Amino acid sequence: MPSILVTGATGQIGTELTLALRERYGDDTVTAAGHRREPPNNLATGGPYFSLDVRDAAALDAVVSQQKITVIYHLAALLSAVAESQPLQAWDINMNGLLNVLECARKHNCQVFFPSSIAAFGPDTPAFDTPQDTVQHPSTIYGITKVSGELLCDYYHRRYGVDARGVRYPGLISNQAMPGGGTTDYAVDIFYAAVRQKHYECFLRADTQLDMMYMPDAITAAIQLMETDARRLAHRNGFNVTAMSFTPAQLAAAIQQHLPDFTINYKVDPLRQGIADSWPRHMNDSAARAEWDWQPQFDLPAMVADMLAQITAKLHNA
Ligand code: SER
Repeated sequence: MPSILVTGATGQIGTELTLALRERYGDDTVTAAGHRREPPNNLATGGPYFSLDVRDAAALDAVVSQQKITVIYHLAALLSAVAESQPLQAWDINMNGLLNVLECARKHNCQVFFPSSIAAFGPDTPAFDTPQDTVQHPSTIYGITKVSGELLCDYYHRRYGVDARGVRYPGLISNQAMPGGGTTDYAVDIFYAAVRQKHYECFLRADTQLDMMYMPDAITAAIQLMETDARRLAHRNGFNVTAMSFTPAQLAAAIQQHLPDFTINYKVDPLRQGIADSWPRHMNDSAARAEWDWQPQFDLPAMVADMLAQITAKLHNA
């Protein structure tokens, strides 16, 4: 049985991944670590929780030793838009945090999951059918930390045999914890606005097409990749994965199928529009499909139907 540590456990992915891992492997085998001193209720009651800053190498090492950790899902990071407003802090958290995790993994012989992103690509990458192996010249500090992270994970595998693996997530849509300062956050915010006030003011242009994925598929991707027999993996880090690709206008139209009164207007934020314009429109994820059987379950209509149902119930019960 693995003993798992999830860093960034109170974040958008971490909240749901921690619960899914506890469900799969048992509550006590999954240690959640977040920067909040007090964890949210669902994480506190279900299993071990530590308040941890991943930049503190000694504190990280102490948790890994104490909990006899064998697998680390390292999710603690700043997202694209917030990173752009504080580049030095983004470098510090995203890169030094990862380096500390990889050093810990080397010392304690742990497996590591590192989420990269569509942000690891840049304006000179082919925007459609973006290949697995292609030009990676990101123009954001977040993207630079993601492509550097992919390289660092590959280096620790090649140099020290650390079993580091990862995917390039697209925009993630979820209904538990909110995303914290990303460019694709509009695709989450729009659902709360649609249910609450039947109107959304979007910070990206109507025709901004980006890859997206519903959180249940993102969770499956992480666990499935980590459980795959290493002998099948030609790549290890930065697997392209996507489930759907749409524009704000197309998402609004899909919501209108359920809520005909829903309206949208556009007030473009130049920072986030510039970031989105530098990213691919639709990635090719055939390497993930071939090497570890990646297969998303949710397309746009299925995701929209489930999001609206979940958020309506959540706001009703609030
Ligand atoms: N969802 C992320 C962001 O917008 C992309 O990795 O920053």
